[in-house]
Amino acid sequence: MKADILLTNIGQLVTMDHGDGPVRGKEMNVLPVIENAEIAWKDGQIIYIGQMNETKIDANEVIDCQGKLVTPGLVDPHTHVVFGGSREHEVSLKLQGASYLEILEMGGGIHSTVSQTKLATHEELKQKTIQHLNRMLSYGVTTVEAKSGYGLDEETEFKQLKVAKELQSEHVMDIVSTFLGAHAVPKDYKGNEEAFLEKMLSLLDQIKEEELAEFVDIFAETGVFSVEQSREFLLKAKEKGFLVKIHADEIDPLGGTEMATEIGATSADHLCGASSKGVEMLGDSNTIAVILPGTTFYLNKPEFAPARAMIDQNAAVSLATDFNPGSCPTENLQLIMTIAMLKLKMTPEEIWNAVTINSSYAINRGEQAGKLKVGRKADVVIWNAPNYTYVPYHFGVNHVESVFKNGKLVV
Ligand code: NIG
Ligand code: FE
Repeated sequence: MKADILLTNIGQLVTMDHGDGPVRGKEMNVLPVIENAEIAWKDGQIIYIGQMNETKIDANEVIDCQGKLVTPGLVDPHTHVVFGGSREHEVSLKLQGASYLEILEMGGGIHSTVSQTKLATHEELKQKTIQHLNRMLSYGVTTVEAKSGYGLDEETEFKQLKVAKELQSEHVMDIVSTFLGAHAVPKDYKGNEEAFLEKMLSLLDQIKEEELAEFVDIFAETGVFSVEQSREFLLKAKEKGFLVKIHADEIDPLGGTEMATEIGATSADHLCGASSKGVEMLGDSNTIAVILPGTTFYLNKPEFAPARAMIDQNAAVSLATDFNPGSCPTENLQLIMTIAMLKLKMTPEEIWNAVTINSSYAINRGEQAGKLKVGRKADVVIWNAPNYTYVPYHFGVNHVESVFKNGKLVV
């Protein structure tokens, strides 16, 4: 069979082909790599992976990688990519010492983005999201999760979800959609959180019917929703056939990590304040621990999530940007890899597993993304780097040379 494209003379081909399921515990320190490798695809599907000179592959186009690194497209499993406006006006408040939750309490933070998202038209929101997705793609990300949560009312939540849905078919990025209507408590519902959650639950039937989201998420935090409210909310979403995830123990340690594992959440995200019991429970669960160290860095918090303890407990750890206009305004997952190396003390091998195969499981795409294997789609990145350690090591710059999405050159 004649391939469309053959990449040859690859220094390191990181396949992530570990076998089935996410990678947990000690196994995370192992990276399946083929040196002096080749990979070929046809009609967007990988048809050959091997060492150079093993098999003669006939291809319409042959690309000499000159000893560079090649990996699967990165997977970013936690982003708030659909939003209006920006929040640089809050920088001075931050510098004066106002905390994230204080700014939220004053009616800023998420509420500020809610106002800007309400004001944006569908088309404006869509064009802005395209720019963010393009930037993610330029950093090597080929699959992304996108949350709503900047509407907190029916009309704007649907506007966000519909933008994401349209872009699922119109943009080359693979997008997995999450309903995060329970992202903050609107002013009118302060003290009446249950009624607000009921209202958000009442949207689920239509969301399901129109296939607007696969996941439901909630922000369990001081001054937002309690762990018990979150448990009840997510269980009801599960009953309606949604997969669930949760913003857990991001700022205050409330016990959201334990709850996530108890209700069988696909992922528990943030986890800076996860208790030792929560960490232990993650280890024996099917819940992926999605750590967002860029947020801890940008919120200027001293305590990063206990990634080492999680890995010691045999958890499957994933990394994401949390891209949003407040707590982590960056689309650059490569930067997050460096922060994970320095602040979470994760090894380069663990980091690469975390941003590919484990991230794909965190958004129910374990069988489609994050791995290079014959029969899988060709989401492939050529890096302007001699080896995989080089990427988190040389930080703050973009190491991507080319990105192929479904076999087509897009960057
Ligand atoms: O994951 N914490 C809640 N949600 C986002 C921040 C959203 C925002 O500040 O706009 C997060 O950090
Ligand atoms: Fe988030």
